[in-house]
Amino acid sequence: MAMHRVIQLKECDRVWINVNLATFDPAMSHPYGSRHRCALGIHKGKIARIEPMSAVTATRLPYDVTDGHNGWLTPGLIDCHTHLVFGGHRAQEFELRLKGVPYEQIAAQGGGILATARATRVRSKEQLIKSTLPRLKALTAEGVTLVEIKSGYGLNLVDEIKMLEVAKELHNRHTIKIISTLLVASTLPPEFAGRTDEYVDMICQQLIPEVADKKLAEAVDIHCENAAFTMAHRDKIFQSAIDNGLPTKCHTEQFSENGGASLAAHMNALSCDHLQHISEQGIADMAESGSIAVLLPGSYYFMRCQTPPPVELLRHYQVPIALATDTNPGTSPLASIRMMMNMGCIFFQLTPAEALAGVTINAARALGIADHYGSLEEDKAADFCLWDIDHPNELAYQLGHCPLQQRVIDGQIIDTSH
Ligand code: NIG
Ligand code: FE
Repeated sequence: MAMHRVIQLKECDRVWINVNLATFDPAMSHPYGSRHRCALGIHKGKIARIEPMSAVTATRLPYDVTDGHNGWLTPGLIDCHTHLVFGGHRAQEFELRLKGVPYEQIAAQGGGILATARATRVRSKEQLIKSTLPRLKALTAEGVTLVEIKSGYGLNLVDEIKMLEVAKELHNRHTIKIISTLLVASTLPPEFAGRTDEYVDMICQQLIPEVADKKLAEAVDIHCENAAFTMAHRDKIFQSAIDNGLPTKCHTEQFSENGGASLAAHMNALSCDHLQHISEQGIADMAESGSIAVLLPGSYYFMRCQTPPPVELLRHYQVPIALATDTNPGTSPLASIRMMMNMGCIFFQLTPAEALAGVTINAARALGIADHYGSLEEDKAADFCLWDIDHPNELAYQLGHCPLQQRVIDGQIIDTSH
């Protein structure tokens, strides 16, 4: 780590006093990395100093002080897997599914991802921004300070780029940090019917290079579920992402074991997401490559899945577990990160500490940004939340009322209504 001068509390731009910290500092062995009764100072948008209150006196404090009244600070929550930008909705498909029509059948008849792609293609950037904002606000109201947004409903060069530009624009306009991911190969668009090879060539030779060149995405997510694509196609797409300097991740093993996790691990993917049907070999491969497991209890619940991901094996192989909303119009129209924490505990038997680690430090790892985000440590970004709770296990425990008091981004206190 670079040498830096120790900053005293007095020199900080603002100090939070009388706070307990769930630091998630990987160097601490306690599940939350808890530190009780502390003061936390920020300077130039970063966490500059953490000290026990016993060492703090009034003369050592700067002018701007926030009294946390013994509440808890956690790292800002991170939703590391969403499809937040899309046109329209699919409530009518929800009704069909409730009557027993399977998702695959709806998709085969032109519904599903293709229905959302049609609705996304015809909308302007401004329209997409407008329809995404309420979903972003739902996340920020629960303490999310950073969200990943995938493309994937454009399915062609122009509209994939349009989606990524919408994400960039939201990053500039809204009080949340956005990381964009190019999502490819979730389905074959009808104009390429029977020409999968050509579509894959378009992804590898045009779409990925252009997105990389324009710096419109921080990673490429290679969907490994749709049978229109072979392992050879996916392998080619992974290689193209790597050749263009973009890290990779994948949707895989959601409805059946398909080997996508092992392929992704061999490509050193940042994360493998869903994983309900992953094999032990797949988990071993992830452990070896250091890929993060991103579990998505929202789509598990919404699709009435029966097989939870093998959490015990993930623990055994020490694969870090992240949790995310997977917000999308088809399989997880659920923009609530705290609901995911609760479902992670109820459906996947995570502990409340694992659930909170899943939306902080491990979510940051899944995005490759853990050097700067995901824990309360000196020199990391001053992105954190102040909660009116007695213990951090409450964040996964109760829903419906949100005990968020402050959301802080780069050291700035953001009104919680934004
Ligand atoms: O792109 N995590 C899965 N996301 C889906 C979206 C599904 C849908 O819109 O129905 C995907 O495959
Ligand atoms: Fe997804």
